[in-house]
Amino acid sequence: MITLPLDWELYIEKHTAPLPEILDEIERQTYLKTTYPQMLSGKIQAGLLHFLIKLSRPQKVLEIGTFTGYATIAMASALNEKAEIDTVENNEMMAEIARNFIEKSPWHNRITLHPADAVDFLKQTRNKYDFVFLDADKENYPVYFELIKPLLNPGALWVTDNVLWSGKVLNPTDKQTEGIAVFNRRITEDNTLENYLLPVRDGLMLAIKK
Ligand SMILES: C[S@@+](CC[C@H](N)C(=O)[O-])C[C@H]1O[C@@H](n2cnc3c(N)ncnc32)[C@H](O)[C@@H]1O
Repeated sequence: MITLPLDWELYIEKHTAPLPEILDEIERQTYLKTTYPQMLSGKIQAGLLHFLIKLSRPQKVLEIGTFTGYATIAMASALNEKAEIDTVENNEMMAEIARNFIEKSPWHNRITLHPADAVDFLKQTRNKYDFVFLDADKENYPVYFELIKPLLNPGALWVTDNVLWSGKVLNPTDKQTEGIAVFNRRITEDNTLENYLLPVRDGLMLAIKK
């Protein structure tokens, strides 16, 4: 994780278009109710996702790893009226927290929460996507690479979180880090995708489907 000094973070937030207020409440509840609240995207990363959605104007968005719905709502609030998000979460407790926030939000009609294992979901879905945010179990990143690729429309933007994994990708010694390192290699070598590793937070891999 690239940690910025707190005053830099506050300056960035102050000089970035504000995100919906409900995200502050989700952040509070995530810190009160979950064991690993740092999994939440946070304002700077969620602001970037929101901005990328505005820029790329997708009709169909897929998020793998909903957690408490923070990035889901940040992305949904940037969508055009008829666009939609599928978000997939396999932890029942997290899905319940996310569902409550999604239902309370003005964007609930745009969001479908799938309480399912992401691998099962990706194998059975018939949807194609214009924007994907991958942010789930790191060991499975190579599996997600193979399953997500055929679901991308031409021109789709695919964002993957934690691709630097606090720098551990330089020398992988465990299964999670190995999963990320294989993913990074495959996405870079794949000539149907053009990618860019953005060193924001814990590393975001951006890729465009040619
Ligand atoms: C890093 S958190 C997601 C954070 C969220 N995208 C955000 O920005 O706030 C990862 C989430 O993926 C979920 N997850 C892990 N493995 C999964 C799987 N195989 N299928 C579906 N969800 C999974 C975890 O339960 C966790 O809630």
